[in-house]
Amino acid sequence: MPGPWPVTAERGADGALTIGGVCVRDLARDHGTPLWVVDEDDLRERCRRYVAGFPGVDITYASKAWCAVGILQLVEEQGLFIDVASGGELYTALVAGVDPSRLILHGNNKSVAELDRALEVGVGRIVVDSFDELDRLEALGAQRGVTTPVWLRITPGIDAHTHEYVRTGHDDSKFGFTLSLGLADEAFTRSLALDHVEVVGVHAHIGSQIFGTDPFIANAEVMLDLLARWRDEHGVVLAELNLGGGMGIRYTHEDHPVEVQRYGRAVLDVVHERCTTLALPRPRLLVEPGRAIVGPSTVTLYEVGTIKHLPGLSTWVSVDGGMSDNIRPALYDAEHEVMLAGRASSAEPTAVTVVGKHCESGDLVREHAPLPGDLTVGDLLAVAATGAYTASMASNYNQLPRPAAVLVRDGQVRLLRRRETDEDLVRADVSLR
Ligand SMILES: Cc1ncc(COP(=O)(O)O)c(C=O)c1O
Repeated sequence: MPGPWPVTAERGADGALTIGGVCVRDLARDHGTPLWVVDEDDLRERCRRYVAGFPGVDITYASKAWCAVGILQLVEEQGLFIDVASGGELYTALVAGVDPSRLILHGNNKSVAELDRALEVGVGRIVVDSFDELDRLEALGAQRGVTTPVWLRITPGIDAHTHEYVRTGHDDSKFGFTLSLGLADEAFTRSLALDHVEVVGVHAHIGSQIFGTDPFIANAEVMLDLLARWRDEHGVVLAELNLGGGMGIRYTHEDHPVEVQRYGRAVLDVVHERCTTLALPRPRLLVEPGRAIVGPSTVTLYEVGTIKHLPGLSTWVSVDGGMSDNIRPALYDAEHEVMLAGRASSAEPTAVTVVGKHCESGDLVREHAPLPGDLTVGDLLAVAATGAYTASMASNYNQLPRPAAVLVRDGQVRLLRRRETDEDLVRADVSLR
């Protein structure tokens, strides 16, 4: 079965989907739907593959993909560093008990409070994104009497061919110091005059859901050339290079992402060659996958609530969640594979449109999903590869409580996040009566 499904996904003797040895019907009965089901073996295995595929490289989990306490704890147990991109993600990592020195703080508009908290707890590295941030860090360092080791976020001018909303390496981007316009050089030169900020490395993340190794190779080349040029111009050798995340994953059987091992070899080979050519010592290297760590580990379970046949037009199958628990189809036209999960069926598949229960026509789960013709109200559907940028982007649109999430392994179920209640929905509201 795997394809876009987690490693332990299989059909049980009665035809129902099982994950981590647990039948999805039991999960739906005990925890309700919609439900995020995380395959622990899958998640740990993807961390291990990164560590093995990039020998000598510090693998950093980009927690924006799914920043839940239990997920961060699992990932840290596998030896990964963790990148956080806001005060809230930093807070969550600290609650999870992550060692602050293993945290990296990102963000194109970090507030003074966020930066100050990062200095207070001693995060491992701060990735400086703007001139304003350099000034803020210099002032905060002076107040605290510390010098902060940072990386500069470089915008390397690499156009990764991916969705417009997840491209970040091209010149006209809100992120980082644009190399081609001289901003990266200006930031480095300015930093040399600062007393409380020390640039010890550079960072570049070119985008997300990238297939193929060429953009990553180009990114490594551009960044190493930059380190060599700054060495020649300033006599300073920066010893740390973070090449960002962005590896694509399989959402449907039609997706063919690069194996981690091939990606690792391609990047390490080019780093070795380029460093030799440039007579540059190999820097400490980091990569920052988010989606590729947590995305494929998870499926979302939904229950079918209504089915509407429009002769000559479409068949609309409505489930009990939608864009509030997975915004990706509406935001990026993303496609996720869908299967009938609660039972087997030998009925001929027909293409149906699976939609959520929100008041938006864009509230799609999957268009043209080939589901058995005997699909009926009450059936359970599973949606593949929903671990990344779903729970972390979830909302309460239409005042839907956010789903629960469970971790499954060897027939055991652990709660990662309880289902929200109606009380949660109004907890922060202030009544005028
Ligand atoms: C700076 C940075 N690093 C890493 C990532 C992770 O990307 P992905 O989940 O595609 O691996 C992102 C995603 O937006 C990012 O902005």
